[in-house]
Amino acid sequence: MTPTRETFGNIPLSSQLAFYALAMVAMGIFCWGVWRRWKLWQLGTPIDFRGLITGNLAAVWQKIRPGARRVAVDAVAQQRVRGHGLGTVAHLSLYLGFMALLAGTTLLELDNILSHISPALKFHHGLYYVVYEFTLDVLGLFFILGTILFFVRRLSKPAALGHRATDWYVLWSFLAMGITGYQVEGLRIVWQQPVGLAAHCSPVGLWIAGWFAGWSEAEARSAHFAVWWIHAFLVFGFIASIPFTRLFHFIAGPMNLFLAQPSLGVLPVVTMAEVEQTGRVGVGDIRHFSVQELLSLDACMECGRCEEVCPAFATAKPLSPKRVVQDLKSLMETTAADLAAGRKETRALHTETIQAETLWSCTACSACVNVCPVRIDQLKFIVHLRRHLVAEGGLSGTAATALRRMQSNANPWGLPPAERANWTEGLTVKTTS
Ligand code: HEM
Ligand code: SF4
Ligand code: SF4
Repeated sequence: MTPTRETFGNIPLSSQLAFYALAMVAMGIFCWGVWRRWKLWQLGTPIDFRGLITGNLAAVWQKIRPGARRVAVDAVAQQRVRGHGLGTVAHLSLYLGFMALLAGTTLLELDNILSHISPALKFHHGLYYVVYEFTLDVLGLFFILGTILFFVRRLSKPAALGHRATDWYVLWSFLAMGITGYQVEGLRIVWQQPVGLAAHCSPVGLWIAGWFAGWSEAEARSAHFAVWWIHAFLVFGFIASIPFTRLFHFIAGPMNLFLAQPSLGVLPVVTMAEVEQTGRVGVGDIRHFSVQELLSLDACMECGRCEEVCPAFATAKPLSPKRVVQDLKSLMETTAADLAAGRKETRALHTETIQAETLWSCTACSACVNVCPVRIDQLKFIVHLRRHLVAEGGLSGTAATALRRMQSNANPWGLPPAERANWTEGLTVKTTS
């Protein structure tokens, strides 16, 4: 007999219809959540979307190629997630399992749609079925393993990792989705009694089926139906929760990777034309950031990598690049809420949200930008804000002192001219006459 299985086997038509109706509700909540975030980003100054997609195909491709490459390398191949111990192993495992399950479910639905058009179009059988079932059965274990490793990581409480109550919901729901998925498969094997390859191509499912050995077909069918629904509700909850939890990084992350213009070591240039047009230098209001910059705030999953490498944070200065990103994100949300409620007075960006000492603590070393997995440019945010302070005459702290000394003594240490080159003693520094 050709190895295969019925899609929606043991699930009555009424439940199938209810399943699709609830799936639409979950998708609706997902779209609404994404739309709300999209509206938030529109607070910023527009970016030239049209410029990206105008011209002939070759011209369009030239413009979008760098972004497409970053999505392929940094998001799909997870290049920038690597090199971070347990966090990396957990993510690669979870990501591999998740992507396999997502692709598998999509293929299953495609097979279901095609088989309704014509039974001859059904492809979920034979060798394809055996390879499909085996691959998903094994890669599903990676999904569960990645989730368990994330539990271990979160329970070990690394100082730099962000913590929100919904993080636990995400991890528990992933674990429950994985376990109930295998239970559904095991119970299906019990009532369906496949033989030969059709059974052995699902080794984990077959092992789980052993837990229910001795159950009658009717018992296995009832339990299968009940666990199938639990699994479905967990999946609906997952889909609907994406825009409201840390999981949103897998939507905003690739978007930022596509739109960002990374320029390590190069500060954004301010042109006179720009100053004349906008009437300002730097950023004094959250709405002065661009749509892409605001979007990038939503890509942050608070992994803490930027904080871990920040020399200012390491030396107990009042600066954490992760905190700057999170504070700006919170300001974006409250500003949008204030404006929607018709309130003219919104929380101030400077002083009320980001303090001057925080901004002047940055050494502009770019270490944070270099490690961010989704290429958020924390330094660019800081530079924009600092420029505003300078334009407003608000330079303070060590930066102000250094500049004053440059003016009076021609060196940032304030040393007399005869001593200003003392630091070169014993070094092979060339001098000009
Ligand atoms: C699209 C590209 C993606 C990138 C660049 C990315 C990056 C990251 C990074 C760097 C972390 C922090 C890891 C750590 O703790 O060290 C993380 C956490 C996580 N990611 Fe992704 N991710 C992506 C897609 C996905 C996808 C598709 C999923 C699938 C469900 C996912 C689920 C998670 C989960 C559950 C966490 C852990 C949250 C926690 O700390 O509790 N990510 N991601
Ligand atoms: S650029 Fe500034 S915020 Fe980023 S790591 Fe260096 S000192 Fe820290
Ligand atoms: S800004 Fe980037 S590196 Fe820093 S916590 Fe957020 S995602 Fe991680």
